[in-house]
Amino acid sequence: MSDNGTPLKGKTAVILGVASDTSIAWAIAQELAKRGANILLGYQFRYHSRIKDLAPTLPNLIGFHRCDIMKDEELDKFFGEVKTPIDIVVHAIAFAPQTAFAGRLVETSQDDFSLALSVSAHSLAKFMNKAKDHMPNGGSVMALTYLGGVRVSQNYKLMGVAKAALEAYVRELAADLGPDGIRVNAISPGPINTLAASGIPDFELMLDYNKAVAPMRKNVTQHDVATTAAFLSSDDSKMITGQTIYVDGGYSIIGVPSLG
Ligand SMILES: NC(=O)c1ccc[n+]([C@@H]2O[C@H](COP(=O)([O-])OP(=O)(O)OC[C@H]3O[C@@H](n4cnc5c(N)ncnc54)[C@H](O)[C@@H]3O)[C@@H](O)[C@H]2O)c1
Repeated sequence: MSDNGTPLKGKTAVILGVASDTSIAWAIAQELAKRGANILLGYQFRYHSRIKDLAPTLPNLIGFHRCDIMKDEELDKFFGEVKTPIDIVVHAIAFAPQTAFAGRLVETSQDDFSLALSVSAHSLAKFMNKAKDHMPNGGSVMALTYLGGVRVSQNYKLMGVAKAALEAYVRELAADLGPDGIRVNAISPGPINTLAASGIPDFELMLDYNKAVAPMRKNVTQHDVATTAAFLSSDDSKMITGQTIYVDGGYSIIGVPSLG
């Protein structure tokens, strides 16, 4: 391994979910680019003013195009721009309307459920249904999830349900796409201050609590997630598929935290 980590030269990565320079997807794009991967970004047009300045700072950028996962015409246009085989797909997108965090979970509307699950979980299958045709050499796919998909995390509510579905999709898609040489995994980071996180009530308290309880006694950074993404992108992980990899300083192993 070089000083820069396992090289990814010659691989092409499609990365969904850059909204700002605090996005986990942005740290992953920077890390994969640093290791030599070619990068194609798909982003939501509402963030265009930021992306147009950020994207060109990436070495090996091959393009950045609108790709709202709910807009089929944008998805078709996006894949029309894909000119080389894809080796790596990073799915770092999630959304639930504010109303989903406001009331009790039992009050969740059908519309909020449909939107949150479509954007945050089904989008992985929807995107891969097109991406697989551009992956003749197989490859590695990773989705960003959170502990709220397997345990109750106060205030996460409908997003917990969406992450559970996303993790199930990761396993099912790993089985579906494995024969095509495509691996599918999830990365489950501890809490990180980003635009999406700012929509979760009491997020600052979550950060403090995680830092106090996690065995490593630190919060996770975007870069910590990005180096794990680089590992999953590389052939070093070539027999790992269908897994959820926790990058949380060990928080998820704790039952009863230190009481002293
Ligand atoms: N920040 C955390 O604490 C944390 C922890 C664990 C997992 N995650 C997950 O990491 C991923 C990235 O989130 P982030 O924290 O970097 O926040 P972020 O706000 O930077 O990224 C969220 C992204 O989702 C995209 N998105 C939302 N709706 C979309 C749609 N219809 N089409 C295409 N893109 C859409 C946004 O454009 C944005 O780029 C999410 O899946 C999130 O749930 C975040």
